[in-house]
Amino acid sequence: MEVKISPTYEALSKQAAEFVAELLNAKPNAVLGLATGSSPIGLYRELVRMHKDEGLDFSQVTTFNLDEYVGLPAEHPQSYHYFMYENLFKHINVPKEHIHIPSGTTKNYRAFCQWYENRIKECGGIDMQVLGIGSDGHIAFNEPTSSLASRTRLKTLARQTIEDNARFFDRAEEVPIYAITMGVGTILEARHLLLVANGENKADAVAKMIEGPVTSMITASALQLHPHAKVFIDDAAASKLTMREYYDWIQAKKPGAPRF
Ligand code: F6R
Repeated sequence: MEVKISPTYEALSKQAAEFVAELLNAKPNAVLGLATGSSPIGLYRELVRMHKDEGLDFSQVTTFNLDEYVGLPAEHPQSYHYFMYENLFKHINVPKEHIHIPSGTTKNYRAFCQWYENRIKECGGIDMQVLGIGSDGHIAFNEPTSSLASRTRLKTLARQTIEDNARFFDRAEEVPIYAITMGVGTILEARHLLLVANGENKADAVAKMIEGPVTSMITASALQLHPHAKVFIDDAAASKLTMREYYDWIQAKKPGAPRF
């Protein structure tokens, strides 16, 4: 795992966006996996800026989102459909028919999840998956004890996640308790993983993801099994790492070889 530590959220978002842009420049028809939540907002803001100021082109890009709350229609302001449209899709030139987000309102979840998995394969697999990390160490909505081989499925959210996400809803009782989420196994099949995390409340989970054992108790620790996982964090999120000096040294000395 490559660990890149920045002094601020803005700086880490910019570096993460440069990494995505590098992929799109090398492969204009890349398949991007996307995440929601507060962590990638800065990355999306920077991609929008690059699209507007530098002509970063999304016209051949295909996207797959990690997850969606069950029970929320696409037009619900807390749905991940709505989030993606507001924070990214409405500002860039990705064709509507190239966008995939799990349905929160399908009548047949099992069939939908199978279709989603098949659709990823039909599109050639995910080139780069953007991820955040929950304070309980989850990636997507793969809560503690989720199988590290799991696929896209219906999942019950952990109490901790419901509490964390209550800040986006008027009342905690409004937070859905189920989601459709890509599995850890699905995520690990992406060719590159890019995880962004900031703030002190992520420091514990980040330290366990990077330096702890691989365990389904911290599903983000599965990134250790991936050959091309890159983690962009700020000083606060890095504050519980024991090998900080080592990560900074490696980053400073890294040769600038093309990555895609
Ligand atoms: C969202 C997702 C989640 C979040 C995580 C962190 O699509 O998959 O795993 O990335 O819960 O959320 P924030 O960024 O809001 O702290």
